[in-house]
Amino acid sequence: MKKISVDTNDKKYNIYFSSGFDSIKEAVNECGLVGRKLCIITDSNVGSIYAQKVKNALEGCFESIYLYSFKAGEKSKNLDTISDFYSFFLENHIDRKTVVAGLGGGVCGDMAGFAAATYLRGIKFIQIPTSLLAQVDSSVGGKVGVDFKGSKNIVGAFYQPEFVFVNMETLDTLSEREFAAGMAEVIKYGPIHSYDFFKYIMDNKEAVKQRDKNCMQHIIETCCKIKAEVVAEDEKESGLREILNFGHTIGHAVETIKGFSLLHGECVAMGMKAAFDICFKRGDITLNEYNEFLSLLAYFGLPLKAEEIQPEEVYSQMFLDKKVKSNKLSFVLLKGYGKPYSTSAVSREEIFDAINTISGDSV
Ligand code: NAD
Ligand code: GLY
Repeated sequence: MKKISVDTNDKKYNIYFSSGFDSIKEAVNECGLVGRKLCIITDSNVGSIYAQKVKNALEGCFESIYLYSFKAGEKSKNLDTISDFYSFFLENHIDRKTVVAGLGGGVCGDMAGFAAATYLRGIKFIQIPTSLLAQVDSSVGGKVGVDFKGSKNIVGAFYQPEFVFVNMETLDTLSEREFAAGMAEVIKYGPIHSYDFFKYIMDNKEAVKQRDKNCMQHIIETCCKIKAEVVAEDEKESGLREILNFGHTIGHAVETIKGFSLLHGECVAMGMKAAFDICFKRGDITLNEYNEFLSLLAYFGLPLKAEEIQPEEVYSQMFLDKKVKSNKLSFVLLKGYGKPYSTSAVSREEIFDAINTISGDSV
């Protein structure tokens, strides 16, 4: 089975790539988890399609397998749902030897990981990401957590999994809208890493849209490689890892203000457009690069504007973001493709101009 190693200070683990769930047994074996109990956390959409398949594939690996499903969607990503997980853990005598598995998208993985990080002061967990977004981003790197009172991922921990198991076949059942949202995080790796990767997506965009297996494999593995490198150098986001937040400063604010009616990836797409606007006006990105970037987002059907957002409200919401330090906003900008940097030196005027480019009323 193909694998990429993630080497952090806390833990070294593998991301396994597979078609189908059969080889998950191999991963469980390699990680010495055989014979324990397993508690699978999934959501109402993913559970009904894949939970039984995963259970079948794991037959004989675990002493017993428990399954808990929550209502799918970002609106479930809160402490109430975590509290439900804890109740389920208690009722089923989940102990220190139990492994928690997050089977689903980023919402599921972030919450399963947070519950595993906190229950009994930490039990082992594994990530089985099924959305594109989770396969290229959220399942790797150990950020786990929940939203709280309108602030995205404001309560959480860094807690690395024992392994990540990517079954690329799960992409087949993802809706077009969710696939596109995942593509926003994929496209993000272009500006922050290299024009070459961006160009690969551009040159193969039709095949990507058709979810061509070879293309998707190349894309998912490349994103995981980039993320693994970044996380290996800066696990706890004290510097380099901030580049992964490209597009998230404004994106998170829009996501919250819109009451999670827009998807995370859709808001990241708008946030990236806003960040490109700042870079372009600073002369760090050419008009051609700016337009090319927007066309690719549009090609995948990602929104470039949000209806009914008030720039003042977006601006205020940005101060409730977890990236704010000493009341200063933090932005990831570009000096060009593959040259991202994090800065708080962005003027109010630049920020409002950028927000205006994504507000529904702008031309
Ligand atoms: P999600 O978990 O809500 O999944 C999206 C939707 O697709 C859900 O309805 C889900 O049920 C469904 N789904 C998932 N896989 C499916 C499949 N194979 N077939 C059919 N339906 C499927 O959202 P997401 O887009 O996966 O992740 C977004 C979340 O990830 C946000 O909460 C964001 O904050 C978080 N995130 C975390 C990190 C991190 O580093 N931890 C990074 C990026 C994003
Ligand atoms: N998606 C941001 C990070 O993992 O740091």
